[in-house]
Amino acid sequence: MMRPRDPSLLLSVSCLFHVMLLQPWTVYAEPFMHSDVAAQISTANFTQALNLLGADQVCLIEFYASWCPACKHFAPKFEKFANFLKDKRLGGRLLYIARVDCAIEVDLCGAFNVPGYPALFLGLAPDFLAKDPKKLQIYHGHDRQLQHLATWVGEYFKTELIYSEVEAGAPVGGAASSGAHTSSATAKRRPLPSGPEWSLADVEGATLQLWSILATTPSLHRGAEKRAALRGILEGWAAAHPSTSCKSHANGLLSSYDKLWPAGEEAAPAALLQSEPCGPPAGLAFRGEWVTCRGSKPDSRGYSCGLWEMLHTMALRFPEKPGAAGPAQAMMTFLTLFNTHFFQCAPCQKHFGRILASPEAAAVTDRRSLSLWLWRVHNEVNERLRGIEAQYGHSTTGDPEFPKEQWPAPESCPHCRASDSASAWVEDRVWEYLQRVFGVGSAPGADGVRPVTQLQLGQSSRIRTTSVLYSLLPVLGVAAAALLMFLVVRGNMISGRRGRSSGMLWSSAVK
Ligand SMILES: Cc1cc2nc3c(=O)[nH]c(=O)nc-3n(C[C@H](O)[C@H](O)[C@H](O)COP(=O)(O)OP(=O)(O)OC[C@H]3O[C@@H](n4cnc5c(N)ncnc54)[C@H](O)[C@@H]3O)c2cc1C
Ligand SMILES: *[C@@H]1O[C@H](CO)[C@@H](O)[C@H](O)[C@H]1NC(C)=O
Repeated sequence: MMRPRDPSLLLSVSCLFHVMLLQPWTVYAEPFMHSDVAAQISTANFTQALNLLGADQVCLIEFYASWCPACKHFAPKFEKFANFLKDKRLGGRLLYIARVDCAIEVDLCGAFNVPGYPALFLGLAPDFLAKDPKKLQIYHGHDRQLQHLATWVGEYFKTELIYSEVEAGAPVGGAASSGAHTSSATAKRRPLPSGPEWSLADVEGATLQLWSILATTPSLHRGAEKRAALRGILEGWAAAHPSTSCKSHANGLLSSYDKLWPAGEEAAPAALLQSEPCGPPAGLAFRGEWVTCRGSKPDSRGYSCGLWEMLHTMALRFPEKPGAAGPAQAMMTFLTLFNTHFFQCAPCQKHFGRILASPEAAAVTDRRSLSLWLWRVHNEVNERLRGIEAQYGHSTTGDPEFPKEQWPAPESCPHCRASDSASAWVEDRVWEYLQRVFGVGSAPGADGVRPVTQLQLGQSSRIRTTSVLYSLLPVLGVAAAALLMFLVVRGNMISGRRGRSSGMLWSSAVK
């Protein structure tokens, strides 16, 4: 019988739709660099795969997330490392090398309490099966030079392991081929945005993704410190999120925070984790697809780009409140909480942590110095990544269609750079530009306002023609009716003159 099953079927379809909306990375996670050496394992076949190994089998497992830019950067390196290790007899045996995509296998990675991505775990198969991270060696957040990794693996076997490239030129997955394109690809310019520089959908998307990462990673929602940090993140959104939906829902969660996550409770209860930080999807601009953060490949840009947009827009929205923490202080608190507690991209977190602890960060006092500092910091990151992309190829960390550049481009803001030097910035002009580009009402739908200036941007002409057409509809309707009446009356008059029969025809046609 189909009938009784229908409602549950409907429900599961709508749940699936819902999950896809809220967890866009599970949809986009697939095309991460494939490994020819490491076995890919999932939550479903983890036990089965490890059960086939002996009790003294040593395993090296990489935990990564396909949304994490640093993981993409590390993927070809890990492939080289796996190639180097695969034929080595260590402790008399070959290593079992595998990897897990934590963007998909959230339960498995949650069980291992992965400290941040990418992370390498080394240990015996039974200890992996027991999901006991305390019995495993973890390599995470350090320098990931391959010699350091080799030393770390060597130490486990009480031997010295010297890394060497396996047969220069040997195919190592995508790394060699992507490197070859580097020089021509770096010559490419980043496309100028045809409309607003950022989109409400993408800041909402990053908000939802951050929430989902937090909700599915036990170590991110356990303990008093995380409880306080999460409250701080909600306070930031409640004060300065550019989406009115996210802003008001963060406010709602805050007002019942002590009930949703009571002080004595070790882990955040499901009711809090499953609540929607931006309200029901119907009220959002985010529809499961990136807009201004859309990459040319499914796994590029997206989340991390949305995070930047969130940070630049929030920096311009914290209110000036007499007596309370100023916008600069409030934003610095938000950034520190986010970076310390919830930024799962390990190298990003390390670099950004250093930036946050620098004297330049301490010199931020007001909204202007805050926004300019964040802009400078973002350009520093752009410059560093430009170097990495030039060295390893775009496919490892960036998007070949969006090469890293100093922002804004000269064409976007001609006065932001001194006319006599392409590299000297005019900070007053940059400050004006930042306010125009990221300030209140600078993207459609943001802050609950649709600014007039928006009509001067890209897609506006189409919006205008269609809306003019729509406003003409009633006029056209009235005109058509009048014309019809006129024809009927005139037809009757003519037929009245000519004779009854044709008059009958007209009036029956009108009926
Ligand atoms: C805090 C933070 C730290 C990060 N650290 C690392 C790291 O260490 N290693 C790593 O591989 N990745 C890191 N990332 C990710 C990386 O910076 C990019 O987000 C990612 O490579 C995608 O780049 P993108 O081309 O989409 O542009 P993004 O750099 O993400 O920029 C998004 C948008 O912001 C605007 N923009 C660009 N530059 C500026 C600027 N200077 N000021 C204002 N607006 C600007 C542009 O409109 C751009 O499209 C970090 C991200 C964040 C949020
Ligand atoms: C485990 O499952 C994944 C995803 O279905 C598959 O790609 C992989 O080959 C499997 N690995 C093993 C070792 O069975």
